[in-house]
Amino acid sequence: MKEINVQELQLNPMTLIAKRWMLITAGTEERGYNTMTASWGHLGSIWGHGGGLPTSVIYVRPQRYTKQFVDREELYTLCFFPEERHQALAYLGTHSGRDGDKVAAAGLTPVFEDGYTYFAEAELVLVCRKLYRAPIVEEGFLDREVLEDCYPRRDFHDLYVGEIRRALVRD
Ligand SMILES: Cc1cc2nc3c(=O)[nH]c(=O)nc-3n(C[C@H](O)[C@H](O)[C@H](O)COP(=O)(O)O)c2cc1C
Repeated sequence: MKEINVQELQLNPMTLIAKRWMLITAGTEERGYNTMTASWGHLGSIWGHGGGLPTSVIYVRPQRYTKQFVDREELYTLCFFPEERHQALAYLGTHSGRDGDKVAAAGLTPVFEDGYTYFAEAELVLVCRKLYRAPIVEEGFLDREVLEDCYPRRDFHDLYVGEIRRALVRD
């Protein structure tokens, strides 16, 4: 992988996240790590000055094993894959790391760095540093249909805003 300036990224966040999906990963080889598939999220800018900080927003439900790792660690990564890995992401989004080594079962190879983990098969990796966490709350919904549709069990996501510190692309 080679590092590029985040400003040089050429991508469509609508299709990249919603259609191709991504892996949210937190943790390290020493402390343990976990990963899960996500198709909800945002890329953009907020806070800072001169255009704002490049940031991601991710949404993680309380029952995800991955949430413990995201909460514990300072960093998380977002990994995006070529189309042929779509099945691996489907697997990682329907199996929990609580029940075994789902990464091996999905055929992915973790790459352990100082404070974060990503996957060798990814074509784009964003390394993010957590800036903010907040729960989605029932009172916030202006459209009750979204509330009833997405949260019949009231298992509201926590959202995390993370500053994108590194962007790595396949050589
Ligand atoms: C396409 C797809 C998108 C998903 N998006 C999210 C998401 O944005 N947030 C979330 O909390 N769970 C999402 N999930 C569910 C988790 O990936 C799934 O529950 C996973 O098994 C959790 O693994 P874990 O228990 O090892 O953390 C998604 C699943 C799929 C298949």
